[in-house]
Amino acid sequence: MTVNIDRIQHDLEKINAFNATPDRGITRLTFSKEYQKAQAYIIDQLRQIDAQISISHGGNLTGRIVGSHSRGPAVMLGSHLDTVVNGGRFDGLAGVVCALETARVIVEGGIAHRLPLDVVVFAEEEGARFGRGLLGSSVWTGAIDRARLQEIKDDDGVSYLEAMALAGLTVDDQDRLEPANLRAMLEVHIEQGATLEKKGKRIGLVEAIVGINQFEVTIEGMANHAGTTAMAHRLDALQGAVRIIAAVEDIALRTAASTVVTVGKVVCDPGQSNVIPGRVKFSLDVRDADAAAIESAVAQIIQVADTVCKDRGLTFKITPGTRAAPVALSGSLIELMDQKASEMQIKSLRMDSGAGHDTAVMAGLTESAMIFLPSKDGRSHCPEEFTSPEDIKLGCELLLATAIELSR
Ligand code: HGY
Ligand code: MN
Ligand code: MN
Repeated sequence: MTVNIDRIQHDLEKINAFNATPDRGITRLTFSKEYQKAQAYIIDQLRQIDAQISISHGGNLTGRIVGSHSRGPAVMLGSHLDTVVNGGRFDGLAGVVCALETARVIVEGGIAHRLPLDVVVFAEEEGARFGRGLLGSSVWTGAIDRARLQEIKDDDGVSYLEAMALAGLTVDDQDRLEPANLRAMLEVHIEQGATLEKKGKRIGLVEAIVGINQFEVTIEGMANHAGTTAMAHRLDALQGAVRIIAAVEDIALRTAASTVVTVGKVVCDPGQSNVIPGRVKFSLDVRDADAAAIESAVAQIIQVADTVCKDRGLTFKITPGTRAAPVALSGSLIELMDQKASEMQIKSLRMDSGAGHDTAVMAGLTESAMIFLPSKDGRSHCPEEFTSPEDIKLGCELLLATAIELSR
């Protein structure tokens, strides 16, 4: 029983054609036109294998392949379809397509399975449209109250729920995900780093996923004329912001070797060359496998912001965004996958994930595991992102073997 790599390649090409930035990487924002077309393609493929389709709170898609035991806890396989802006062709999508292909092989091969297999597409994993990552899975599992979705808006002021409605998505699975209705969560994902490539390994088994604390920092000063305002009389929000941003690198380096801090987005208001910036908003992304290290880095950054703003007559506000605690994944699933990989003559590598994933949210409910695929040059979240068809095939074969074992 082997997976069909040509079909996987075809899925990848078809779905990546639904892209808002064909001239520069892939941009497929949650519930956008491109996203709707990609999701419609997945639904069509699922329908061809008689999957039961449903949308849950948070806008997540499920295609259920029922087993002989009608209501058993499900083996969940999947990932996300949304991307960062100008992102790559494999982040999220490789996992969705491997889950789809696994379901096809099991149905076409008439492979008996007792438990249902749920192919899932989690919505708004990246947070690229609504500024809050892991959102669909967090609402589905109850980690975020679904009422929040009315307040969470994109840059055009469209709320998450309005965007769902505009995309023609209505929730028909009212159930919150509960441990009792889950057997396991399995996600294939590109590594997005260079470890596998450097160590010459083709399969990574993830033992832990780092914690993530994201924030939006707003620095308030006073807009004024660039020519008539003496330097001593300015409340320049950007001069404050840059001193805080410049400090985060040293804070990360002195907190812990594994701590990473990123400022990826800076918005200067009003953004005119002859106007002193009155307001600056910038993003902050703090990660570590150790929650205490994250807390320490955040506390140090707030301290610097407080000192800089007091010195300069500025004020600041910190608005929390994506948040996920560090999680350990299932040791028994890792053992099982290690054994399945050995049967395939593959030496897998146990490793941690520096990227966040919906599987981290699911790990709070059920046994969860991730299969990592090598990323060429360790690049991701950019058009250069690449993983070979042969490596995707291998990861999909391991997913198939594990899913058959768990749903038996
Ligand atoms: O940001 C992340 O780690 C993931 O790609 N959403
Ligand atoms: Mn991803
Ligand atoms: Mn990503």
